[in-house]
Amino acid sequence: MNTVIRAEGLSFVYGWEKDREHPVSEKVLDQVDLAIEEGQSIVILGENGSGKSTLARCLNALLCPTGGRVLVRGMDTAEEQNLYAIRSTVGIVFQNPDNQIVSSIVEEDVAFGPENLGIPTEEIRLRVDRALKDVGLYEMRGRSTYQLSGGQKQRIAIAGVLAMRPACMIFDESTAMLDPRGRKDVLNIMEQLRAEGMTTILITHFMEEAVRADRVLIMKKGKIIADEPPEKIFSREELVREAGLELPPAIRIRNLLRRNGVPVPDRILGMEALADWLCARKKDAGGGSHED
Ligand SMILES: Nc1ncnc2c1ncn2[C@@H]1O[C@H](COP(=O)(O)OP(=O)(O)OP(=O)(O)O)[C@@H](O)[C@H]1O
Ligand SMILES: [Mg+2]
Repeated sequence: MNTVIRAEGLSFVYGWEKDREHPVSEKVLDQVDLAIEEGQSIVILGENGSGKSTLARCLNALLCPTGGRVLVRGMDTAEEQNLYAIRSTVGIVFQNPDNQIVSSIVEEDVAFGPENLGIPTEEIRLRVDRALKDVGLYEMRGRSTYQLSGGQKQRIAIAGVLAMRPACMIFDESTAMLDPRGRKDVLNIMEQLRAEGMTTILITHFMEEAVRADRVLIMKKGKIIADEPPEKIFSREELVREAGLELPPAIRIRNLLRRNGVPVPDRILGMEALADWLCARKKDAGGGSHED
């Protein structure tokens, strides 16, 4: 497997990165070791202030480690000459779409990233069209960005990163400000990218968004305290609680059912899977018809 991102003993303290004499924060990242392989889908969970956004920013060289190092496809994020190549390999979409829109016209906004990478105009055209189609906003390419809803702006922000053709995309709470429909749209775009082989990293406070990941990382006080597939992580209720988190809704119901003697298996993590499993069980027991 190819490693896209590797962090080795990564530490980070705010303040020091700007050659100041004194740090302005405690250690926000503390000796983090992490390897992310090509095509993996990763979810990062952790309570407020645990270091998730700081980690994300270190992974695409928006922040430079104050200890240890980060390598993106072998390129050290601390070396200035690697910055363009790193940022076109690992893109980030943030929480607030308003802060990510830079131009007044949709297609100009999406073109901004690739223009900064010095990509030829003809190629930029193709990339912008493709990215806008991917997020379902091609018809709106000539519109003013001021006239868009929050969900549409977030999709434009995603298109802007997509147009840089990154190998890996980080979504730092990119669904947090959206309504349920907007959230679902963004999650669907992520799933589609994942199916196309892109490496995706999702930072979220919505536990149910973690159940389909290949790996779930839990952060606490600047450390990664767990890194396992979702079915393993969410079978460790104690660990999840200690990290200041809750179990996803379907797993809470699963556990309640188990306490009442219904043997729901570990692999059941989402609502649909739970409903399907319960229906199949009922059918097996000969109770397939609807009861009032
Ligand atoms: N620019 C900054 N200067 C100083 N300290 C900062 C700065 N940004 C973040 N911090 C501190 O670093 C710690 C980690 O912040 P970070 O934003 O990485 O957490 P997070 O896990 O993303 O939290 P949230 O879930 O609230 O987004 C916090 O204690 C925060 O106060
Ligand atoms: Mg954050």
